[in-house]
Amino acid sequence: MKNNLFSEFKKTFNKEAGNAYFSPGRVNLIGEHIDYNGGLVMPCAITFGTYVLVALNNEGVFRFRSLNFEEQLDISLQTSYERSGETWFNYPLGVIDYFVKQGNKLQGLDLLFYGNIPIGSGLSSSASIEVVTAYTLNDLFGCGYSKLELVQLSKEVENVFIGVNCGIMDQFAVAFGEKDKALMLNCDTLEYKAVDSNLGDHVLAIINTNKPRKLAESKYNERVQECHAALKALQQELDIQNLCDIDSGTFKQYQHLITDAIVLKRATHVIEENDRVKLAAEALAASNLAEFGRLMYASHDSLKNLYEVSGKELDAVVEYCLTNPNVAGARMTGAGFGGCAIALVKESEFDNFSKAVTAYYTSKIGYAPSVYSSLIGDGVGLLKEAINL
Ligand code: GLA
Repeated sequence: MKNNLFSEFKKTFNKEAGNAYFSPGRVNLIGEHIDYNGGLVMPCAITFGTYVLVALNNEGVFRFRSLNFEEQLDISLQTSYERSGETWFNYPLGVIDYFVKQGNKLQGLDLLFYGNIPIGSGLSSSASIEVVTAYTLNDLFGCGYSKLELVQLSKEVENVFIGVNCGIMDQFAVAFGEKDKALMLNCDTLEYKAVDSNLGDHVLAIINTNKPRKLAESKYNERVQECHAALKALQQELDIQNLCDIDSGTFKQYQHLITDAIVLKRATHVIEENDRVKLAAEALAASNLAEFGRLMYASHDSLKNLYEVSGKELDAVVEYCLTNPNVAGARMTGAGFGGCAIALVKESEFDNFSKAVTAYYTSKIGYAPSVYSSLIGDGVGLLKEAINL
């Protein structure tokens, strides 16, 4: 694919590409809807991701092209940019907007993007394109941001330019991911450890429900608001900054402060899920996949019943997994409302699993899912040194 991308670049811009960069997508093993509540998450980078090939132009113009989408944009160097509609190039444009507003000196660029993350599948195609763009600009123009700053500014772009109040997990995972490692990330302090993914004779399966995620962004922002309301209620008596500052035991003593029944359900999910991540980390370190799997199922159940971000498609996948003894655990991953589930499947049984889950899902939902055996890969980076920059 890499070589093809270089010839595609030549075809598109009639010149050779200089550098090529890649940023992966991510899955989250456990710890869902936790990052914006300051708790613990356990994401991994995957080998699907976003490539960008670039060359400087001397025309003071950014030319955005994609092999995935028809829409394209040519826009001159300005001191700020506006989001335009729902198009894909808002993500790199938002990153450029951030860089110029911070006073970084950029030059015109021809950019060709290609991604193999299924779009809108909950595998963080948006964080991937934001981080790869930020990494590219930083590298080409020597802006001097650390990798953590690139993560933080990419999240800011998603929050402000795009308008989704996401936490930091996705941008962090796609930047700092490591091959065969899961990241234990504290979303409050941003301290993290890359731990062996320790799956033994199991592989990570990704099951894309292929359900388009309509209204996902507004429902996501609604959950963020509900968590703020829960925190505010608890702060009447507790000196805390985040919902995840307390565990389930403490929560039981103070939950009466939350009078709204829906808000109470949301907070219960968050605080119990954060406790599950701690247990999951211990289970992983002890290579106890059965316990890890049990926690995954419990996480899904909570996302379905308390946080209400699952749906019949994701539930159908998990329902099937519960019947298959070769699956250690399964759950939805990412924001929910469609998108992907993950499952830990005995490697030797992966093909049978793939066929059986496809048959079950199709008979229940009416169309097929896509099933992948995922490889846990590295975070963002340069793929190829400059040819003619
Ligand atoms: C999306 C957001 C993340 C995180 C997850 C849910 O992927 O971008 O910040 O909140 O949902 O865990």
